[in-house]
Amino acid sequence: MAGSANVDFLTPVPHIPAPGETVLGEGYSTAPGGKGANQAVAAGRIGGAVALLAALGQDAFAPLLRASLQASGVQDLTVTVDAPTGAAFISVAAGGENAITVASGANARLAPGHLPALDGVSWLVLQLEVPLETSLAYARQARARGASVLLNAAPARALPDELLRCIDLLVVNEGELEALAGVSGPVETQLETVRQRGPGTVLVTLGERGSVALDPSGLQHCPAHPVQVQDTTGAGDTYVGVLAAALHDGKALAEAMRRASVAAALACTRPGAQPSMPTRAELDAALA
Ligand code: RIB
Ligand code: NA
Repeated sequence: MAGSANVDFLTPVPHIPAPGETVLGEGYSTAPGGKGANQAVAAGRIGGAVALLAALGQDAFAPLLRASLQASGVQDLTVTVDAPTGAAFISVAAGGENAITVASGANARLAPGHLPALDGVSWLVLQLEVPLETSLAYARQARARGASVLLNAAPARALPDELLRCIDLLVVNEGELEALAGVSGPVETQLETVRQRGPGTVLVTLGERGSVALDPSGLQHCPAHPVQVQDTTGAGDTYVGVLAAALHDGKALAEAMRRASVAAALACTRPGAQPSMPTRAELDAALA
């Protein structure tokens, strides 16, 4: 996997502030996060063979992020750059919804030249918290080496068709899907519109309505696993990491979606991103 690593500052708040509004939260906690690191940790924690390429600063936060990778069995391919480690300021409302501001810092310095040889890599997983030219360069190289590319197009932004044509599996949430489709309307129609732009398979996560994928064989629906939601932070990343680990293990897409959606649900029952991700034993118990 290649992408961002952030230190997350999590503050529970009564509600997400509107523009110009101040809300008072009681306290805050810091935890390892960032979409790239989160997805790697989600895969590593369930026993997946995974490495992470990310850029960190030379500050007190970098060791915290590295320790979390190590504790989850993620091979550490991080590089140190001359910028502060990325940080995310996350407000979590009482119902579990969040609002996130990311200060990219070191993540903005992850460059095309940082990618090591991809020998033996079956899936390269990317997100959009690093420069677009970097994601595009990595996707091209993965393609050239015969690796499959999973892009989690988060956070939402416009994407060049050249990048979409390098993608085997595109994973988005509802808002990201609509942004890429450029039209509102039924999810099935939006999936088809985006798939016509290049990705072999397009998969949308719909929260408590489960997830839906469109591939050449048609639509596949996967229901959500019902849980008591405490904090959705990291749920999407858990889905992507576990999905990639299952596909790497040779599981069919439907089974990979089932494992991913149960793991993502478990991550919603606990605060934060990486601290909320299930272990292999927890996932297996919930799947049984
Ligand atoms: O997807 C959740 C992540 O988004 C958080 O961990 C935060 O770092 C931001 O990157
Ligand atoms: Na969580």
